Amino acid sequence: MKIGIIGSGNMGRSLGILWAEQGHQVFFGARTAEKGKAVAESAGQGTQGGTNDEAAAFGDVILYSARGVDPVEVLSSTAVLTGKILIDPNNSTIPAEFAYEPIEKSLAEILAEQVPNAIVVKAFNTMAQEVFELAPEPLRGHRVSVFVASDNETARQTVMQLAEEIGFVAIDSGRLRNARMIETIGDFIRFVIIGQQQGSYATISVDVLPAVETQRLGGRQASDLK
Ligand SMILES: NC(=O)c1ccc[n+]([C@@H]2O[C@H](COP(=O)([O-])OP(=O)(O)OC[C@H]3O[C@@H](n4cnc5c(N)ncnc54)[C@H](OP(=O)(O)O)[C@@H]3O)[C@@H](O)[C@H]2O)c1
Repeated sequence: MKIGIIGSGNMGRSLGILWAEQGHQVFFGARTAEKGKAVAESAGQGTQGGTNDEAAAFGDVILYSARGVDPVEVLSSTAVLTGKILIDPNNSTIPAEFAYEPIEKSLAEILAEQVPNAIVVKAFNTMAQEVFELAPEPLRGHRVSVFVASDNETARQTVMQLAEEIGFVAIDSGRLRNARMIETIGDFIRFVIIGQQQGSYATISVDVLPAVETQRLGGRQASDLK
């Protein structure tokens, strides 16, 4: 797969290296060609680097890790994103005392409105960079969830595969609107990491437990509550 990285900071660099290790072709983009090339040089693995425009043109899948910046400010033309998968790993700025406002529209939905010609997929926002440092092994043994949401089923499956390849367990999270919940999970885990000082290796996994043989508590009874 050809993967372009827009914004080769902590997230872009980490995911780009991990995908290159899996045999994908990766192009690191940055605001200056020099920075993109420097990241590629340090990453090795046959990766390339240059401008964000070049990264957007290169990839069939694009990681958009420039937070809070409208693609029209980052790219000369957003037409280059037409039909491409645009992964949004972004979280909002942490407010004072973690007093987050309820999310009425997710960053991923806003991105989709800004570039309606692209296929936006929410993913990779519920773990810190340090967790990527464990990938793909020993991360795989920890069964860390990546919540993946998109209105496009094929794009969702593609990003779920990209998550699984590098050692995560992909959780199909349905339509893009569900990014509101996923970003809330991202907000909560950052509260746990920073606010509760649990450190950057704290993350969130969905566990599906084996059923008990005998329900000694009486089991789940019929209820009108949803
Ligand atoms: N770091 C984490 O642990 C983590 C985990 C999960 C999610 N996230 C989310 O991922 C996103 C990126 O985080 P990060 O840690 O990778 O941040 P970062 O290391 O600061 O990198 C951000 C990137 O954004 C680019 N950028 C910033 N302003 C820009 C502008 N005006 N125009 C174009 N590019 C611009 C920078 O580009 P240049 O390369 O050109 O300098 C930089 O590479 C954030 O939304 C964050 O919440 C981060």
